Amino acid sequence: MSLIEFRGVKKAFGPKVVYQDLNLEIEEGELLTIIGGSGQGKSVMLKMLIGLLEIDGGSIFFDGQEISGFTDAQYAPIRRRVAMLFQAGALFDSLNAKENVAYGLREQLDMTEKEVSERVRESLSHVGLPGTEETWPADLSAGMKKRVSLARALAIRPEVLLYDEPTTGLDPINVTRIADLIVDLNDRIQVTSVVVTHDMDTALAISDRIAMIQDGFVIFSGTPDEVRASDDPRVRDFIEGNAPVDEDTETLLRSAG
Ligand SMILES: Nc1ncnc2c1ncn2[C@@H]1O[C@H](COP(=O)(O)OP(=O)(O)OP(=O)(O)O)[C@@H](O)[C@H]1O
Ligand SMILES: [Mg+2]
Repeated sequence: MSLIEFRGVKKAFGPKVVYQDLNLEIEEGELLTIIGGSGQGKSVMLKMLIGLLEIDGGSIFFDGQEISGFTDAQYAPIRRRVAMLFQAGALFDSLNAKENVAYGLREQLDMTEKEVSERVRESLSHVGLPGTEETWPADLSAGMKKRVSLARALAIRPEVLLYDEPTTGLDPINVTRIADLIVDLNDRIQVTSVVVTHDMDTALAISDRIAMIQDGFVIFSGTPDEVRASDDPRVRDFIEGNAPVDEDTETLLRSAG
């Protein structure tokens, strides 16, 4: 049995259909990358999974349990097991690294101050930033900020980590660092990892499996080698850097010149 399953999921915003029939299974321990053009529904997929967006049809299962349709209260224990690194995963500028990392712990878990400090120390060291508890976000580079956000997601010791565009906006050195870190965490603390990106190079480098979404469906799923060997023109387009974007995004891009 898969750890996570989207079965026949439908999702629309008014007339805008994002998912017509989403079917995807995610195995425990795997590092799965979801790839798709801008506006194809990658962030929506992750938000549906943790119950931030309701689905219009179909089902989502986690660990054998149908979670779609859960109330907020029912989702609370799920959100302790499935942590998300948000696309705009900003840190609170008025809190130091320790308090940023401790945020979810204080909100979700009943821990003593000593336990909080210990967990923050562990989480910062997992992302290669030991001893930075007292540092302020303003004094951190973009790559370090990402890593502190990742430490915040890790702090609750989740079984599943969802990463929404973890490398976007970083310079090439930091892209590699974060990509290495994602692989390392997947192996070392044995989380199941779901990475959303439109960066094909990163996807090919880090993934056990890549699922490609387009026009409301998973159009391809396979290992990096299978992706490289595919002669599906939509897959080739991606590899060659011509990822399609949805109509709204295209209009936006065009009006921006
Ligand atoms: N809360 C919302 N209300 C209305 N429309 C939404 C909402 N969230 C997403 N959408 C629309 O759903 C579509 C998919 O959005 P989503 O954010 O999942 O795209 P994405 O694949 O993550 O794109 P990007 O690569 O740019 O982050 C887009 O057309 C978007 O405008
Ligand atoms: Mg997105």
